[in-house]
Amino acid sequence: MKQLMAANWKMYKTAGEAREVADELVKLVGEVPEGREVLVIPPFTALYAVAGAMNHGTGFHLGAQNFYPEAEGAFTGEISPAMLRDACCSYALAGHSERRHVMGEDDAFIGRKVAYGLEQGLRMILCVGELLEERKAGRVEEVLRSQLEKGLSGVPQDVPAEDIVVAYEPVWAIGTGEVAGPDEIVHAHAFVRSVLVDLFGEKGHEIRIQYGGSVKPANCSEIIALDNVDGVLVGGASLQAESFSQIVKA
Ligand code: 13P
Repeated sequence: MKQLMAANWKMYKTAGEAREVADELVKLVGEVPEGREVLVIPPFTALYAVAGAMNHGTGFHLGAQNFYPEAEGAFTGEISPAMLRDACCSYALAGHSERRHVMGEDDAFIGRKVAYGLEQGLRMILCVGELLEERKAGRVEEVLRSQLEKGLSGVPQDVPAEDIVVAYEPVWAIGTGEVAGPDEIVHAHAFVRSVLVDLFGEKGHEIRIQYGGSVKPANCSEIIALDNVDGVLVGGASLQAESFSQIVKA
């Protein structure tokens, strides 16, 4: 299984800015390290620009931050998986904490997206993670189990393991500079793994689990070496080519 080193650019960068950073990133990374894949997830308007840069490097993939789980129709402001595939995307996110907590998406809707995205040929990254008050109340496992069971409920058993990725992103560690400690990460990832095995049997061992939340060049090599950490999902530190290239190579 290849470690998935992903850059989530959120609502940052015009197409021109994105192209510049992507060109520099491809140059700085050079050859993607053996056993790793690089994924860049820019805003929609920068997808083609970044796709142009990625063409020059193998091991680089393009992803989408969101979509609506229908083929087409009167859904003003939305975008379909087929449109994203047309724009060179092979991955998409679902259930990111900002969509859960800022846009108010619920588990049922997130589950629909995961199932539909897979059906439409996208690899799906389901993001899960607890709020600080849920951690303080000792509810981490309960929250993760519920988000995983509902988010993956429509996934057919015959979907290849490499098409599903889970990103564990504790909400209190996103954009705060406060990274989860090694013990917290190892415990949460082992728990996610156990739920994946409950849901998919042996295949659950082959599904990648990323960590996200204040990953930086300074902490990435320690995090990526932990048990059941099969990649990282990076926000702030992925916005500059220099720091994200260090993470890719950490
Ligand atoms: P930060 O790396 O900025 O904490 O963001 C993490 C994240 O939300 C990636 O999806």
